[in-house]
Amino acid sequence: MSGGEHDHRAATKQGRTRVGILISGAGSNMAAIIEAAKAGDYPAEIAVVISNNPEAPGLALARAAGIEALAIDHRPFGKARHEHETAIDAALRERGVEAVVLAGYMRILTGHLVRAWEGRMLNIHPSLLPKYPGLDTHARAIASGEAEAGCTVHLVTEGVDEGPVLGQARVPVEAADTPEALAARVRIAEHRLYPETLAAFIRQRKTAPV
Ligand code: GAR
Repeated sequence: MSGGEHDHRAATKQGRTRVGILISGAGSNMAAIIEAAKAGDYPAEIAVVISNNPEAPGLALARAAGIEALAIDHRPFGKARHEHETAIDAALRERGVEAVVLAGYMRILTGHLVRAWEGRMLNIHPSLLPKYPGLDTHARAIASGEAEAGCTVHLVTEGVDEGPVLGQARVPVEAADTPEALAARVRIAEHRLYPETLAAFIRQRKTAPV
């Protein structure tokens, strides 16, 4: 263990799991988790927020909440995706991160990072997986005539949007829905689901036999 890691662990509030959040954009799910983590009995503390996009509005939101927020831009790495992920991985480990939350992180991860955090990395996807993995989920749900849509929190595995489901929330699809209107309704559900599912996941891990 490096001295840096040791210092971060010493600073960890009693019993709380140190979580790193990866974002690419608005960071509204990140903000919901930061807000939830203010509660005294929330089992996680947010150690760091990292964005691959230096312009992500979520970075400023995190800083305003007193959380360290880093941009690790993927562009200078070009096709060296592995090296970009190595930089992210190092930043997480230097801060004593124990679990990783993808919150609108819009880059597909290589097996390298996924395996490094296997069983300790969560993602939220705006559909009722296994339906509509990938992009444009809301437009596809509307076009298919779905009566309900929703969101899924799942463990990250090498297959995109395929890992074991930890929690889902459902919302109705309204007759006049546009993809934007449906996305906004789903987003509200995401903001409840993600903090709750993260907390349940951490509590369950702590009580599970080793
Ligand atoms: C959320 O709706 C999240 O489910 C989605 O991006 C949005 C990020 O919003 N994620 C994906 O589509 C991942 N495949 P946010 O930055 O405001 O949290």
